Amino acid sequence: MKPYQNQNSSKKKQIEKMFDSISFEYDKLNRLISAGNDVKWRKKIYKISKKLNPKTILDIATGTADIAIELSNINNSKIIGLDISEKMLEVGRKKILNKNLNDKISLISGDAENLSFDDNKFDLITIGFGVRNFQNLKKGLEESFRVLKPNGSLIILETSVPKNKLVKFFYLLFSRTAIPLIGSFFSKDQKAYKYLQKSAEEFPSGNDFAKIIKSCGFESVNICPQMLGASTIYIAKKKL
Ligand SMILES: C[S@@+](CC[C@H](N)C(=O)[O-])C[C@H]1O[C@@H](n2cnc3c(N)ncnc32)[C@H](O)[C@@H]1O
Repeated sequence: MKPYQNQNSSKKKQIEKMFDSISFEYDKLNRLISAGNDVKWRKKIYKISKKLNPKTILDIATGTADIAIELSNINNSKIIGLDISEKMLEVGRKKILNKNLNDKISLISGDAENLSFDDNKFDLITIGFGVRNFQNLKKGLEESFRVLKPNGSLIILETSVPKNKLVKFFYLLFSRTAIPLIGSFFSKDQKAYKYLQKSAEEFPSGNDFAKIIKSCGFESVNICPQMLGASTIYIAKKKL
């Protein structure tokens, strides 16, 4: 699905425009919508990543660089954050400068579905809340597979819908009312928040998404639901 259904432009162009338009409010509203849990989930990614002892890390769909900043706590690691939205990257660059992390993290413009890196380059790739915005999901995952070293890991954090019926009921009640409401109160781009809510509901999760990841070449996928399944962390391995 696209954010602006009545426009003819490609999903990629619309996604770039949408994140450009909400870049300055993204961090604050992200915290509000997830009741602060997005911060915990990124910390979880850091904990999982640290055990893998990666030296070269690519954070795809880095946005305002929150995951890249978390990962900079891993000793001797170099991180590249990549995104199609220049305005999201601008916010991220300011945060990196303020935290004095310029020597550890560099942010670049780029498309997850057409990466400009050689094969087998990175020990670890992370993608937080990015894959459901890809125009061509499989192409994006295949590109991650290509630039990952053998035995490297891909860690994906994405929204998901809880499986338990009661939890699902309250989750849908909250997401269908609160997210568009928060968008209409705090943002000039209400369609963006409608899209974020709807795309979270429609995106495949759990085993369904793990199957898609495997079909892009990955050997194994661990599925780790967070907060009763409101989001999920997927850890995929490229064969040695
Ligand atoms: C919801 S934000 C997530 C940002 C960040 N990873 C986080 O955890 O907050 C999604 C990001 O994905 C980026 N994105 C979407 N499609 C992309 C693509 N094909 N290539 C690179 N970035 C993309 C958007 O520009 C946006 O910054």
